[in-house]
Amino acid sequence: MLVIENVTKKFGNKKVLDGVSFKADAGEFISIIGPSGAGKTTLIHALIGAEKIDAGRIYVDQYNVNRLHSNKIQEYRRKIGIVFQDYKLLPHKTVFENVAFALEVSGYSKDFIKKRTTEVLRLTGLEDQRNNFPKELAGGEKQRTALARAIVHDPELLFADEPTGNLDPDNAIALAHLLLKINKGGTTIIVATHNKEVVNTFKKRVIAIDGGKIISDKKNSGY
Ligand SMILES: Nc1ncnc2c1ncn2[C@@H]1O[C@H](COP(=O)(O)OP(=O)(O)OP(=O)(O)O)[C@@H](O)[C@H]1O
Ligand SMILES: [Mg+2]
Repeated sequence: MLVIENVTKKFGNKKVLDGVSFKADAGEFISIIGPSGAGKTTLIHALIGAEKIDAGRIYVDQYNVNRLHSNKIQEYRRKIGIVFQDYKLLPHKTVFENVAFALEVSGYSKDFIKKRTTEVLRLTGLEDQRNNFPKELAGGEKQRTALARAIVHDPELLFADEPTGNLDPDNAIALAHLLLKINKGGTTIIVATHNKEVVNTFKKRVIAIDGGKIISDKKNSGY
């Protein structure tokens, strides 16, 4: 489902990604780990088509991600889900509206949107917060709202960059279990994180990068 071949990305003269190659099958769960500055966020940005690469190829299904024109980029983005560390919630919309909004822009019927949004709020444990605004939420609830929004359209592939970065240890582990549950539902997941406990909770494939290079790639692994 995902093939990344010899990807190189430079910022100025510095190679931030240096010959990165790996494949992911449908249904896999991959943690990308490595120290600060290793290139994790740059790699996620390249995978979602938010950052151009200098050499190599990235394929997700039939999408040649680095070569997409803007209308195709929009189409590709609608097929994937993305969770960022800083949530990016809409402040003047409630939890329900933030999650539903992702479906409204895709033109689904009102009934479908209500049904699907309610279902996803249940999955992410946000039923009681559905009418709250982001400023009324705890960090863990904001992050779960961001996750609910990212999966409401049932993406085949979910990318998350430090999804537990702003959470306390208990909330981080709870979010890790939620990601595992979403993966069990069939969504392929790629998470960039340096949270050891979270990676050890996943016990899934771990790709370690350092200085823009893959230094290990292990199945059923930990940090
Ligand atoms: N837009 C940019 N312009 C110049 N350099 C950049 C840019 N974005 C990232 N870098 C550099 O690329 C390197 C990798 O950054 P990246 O954000 O991918 O690391 P990371 O592994 O996600 O780190 P962290 O764990 O702190 O999030 C760093 O040295 C960073 O300073
Ligand atoms: Mg990062």
